[in-house]
Amino acid sequence: MKEQLEKLKEQIEMFEIKQSEHVEAFRLKFLTKKSELNDLFEQFKLVPADIKKEMGSKLNQVKQKAQQKWEESQSQFESIKSTKSSQTIDYSLGSEADFIGVRHPLSIIENEIIEIFKKLGFVYSEGPEIEDDWHNFSALNFPPNHPARDMQDTFFISENIALRTHTSSVQVRLMENQKPPIRAIMPGRVYRNEAISARANCFFHQIEGIYIDEKVSFADLKQTLFYFVQELFGQEIQVRFRPSYFPFTEPSAEMDISCLLCKGKGCNVCKYTGFLEILGCGMIDPNVLEASGIDSKKYSGFAFGMGIERIAMLKYEVKDLRTYFNNDTKFLSQFESQ
Ligand code: DAH
Repeated sequence: MKEQLEKLKEQIEMFEIKQSEHVEAFRLKFLTKKSELNDLFEQFKLVPADIKKEMGSKLNQVKQKAQQKWEESQSQFESIKSTKSSQTIDYSLGSEADFIGVRHPLSIIENEIIEIFKKLGFVYSEGPEIEDDWHNFSALNFPPNHPARDMQDTFFISENIALRTHTSSVQVRLMENQKPPIRAIMPGRVYRNEAISARANCFFHQIEGIYIDEKVSFADLKQTLFYFVQELFGQEIQVRFRPSYFPFTEPSAEMDISCLLCKGKGCNVCKYTGFLEILGCGMIDPNVLEASGIDSKKYSGFAFGMGIERIAMLKYEVKDLRTYFNNDTKFLSQFESQ
């Protein structure tokens, strides 16, 4: 029996388990009731008493060895199987529909406005958000003591450099670099030192427009802007121009449109006036043309500027400006189809 056990031990050690099928073959050979090892356990009853102890422990050792080798190889093949399956991609699996991001309402409005002006021959232009005093103020005829130049209203980076407070600075860059005729539409982000509330934010978006050529008149300005609001809000819209003041235009005006909610009858949105203000505009001041090297005797032009948030608020009836910047997907996903 001793020899048989030695042989069996050797067989167990030599048995090569190279594939998962070998694991089962090993079990059948050494660990079932019909195995040689089991036969030896049966024969154990007949072992003479003086060597019973020695044989018993040998038998157990061989059995343990077989059991251990089987368990180890089994777990080894299990782990190979699981890493393999995690690496395998099942191309036949159906996929879940992904949520595709939607355009931000401000981008939707901005694009719409740009498209309308493109039809009138206005070209797209951009300028830097960090501006110097010249482009943001001086070239636009702001006097040295104008309140917009105050730290209270403007984010200054240094004495001469600030975050632009309006997109009118882009007008100056265009006038410096191009010869009339110039017809451009200039969207962008602007910054003001304002307390954040439902109606104001420390940054917002504007669109600026200019048209400079020989004999450009206030009538051109009115007709251009009238066409624009009709395209954006519908043919029934009514407009009104109110005299106003901007340092860079003379004369200056603000344009109102008939209230979108009450259609001019008067409601709490239009404060019972029937009209809503949507932009500032005017004929470019000759000083501004000259400051950028354009002959004000030969050329004239108009300019206008509007807040995109304001127009989007009117169009989508959004009451709180902050909604545009909260990244609330419930709000944003409403614009999915646009
Ligand atoms: N820059 C003005 C603002 O931020 C808006 C504006 C008014 C722009 C009249 C213009 C304009 O070009 O002609 O309030």
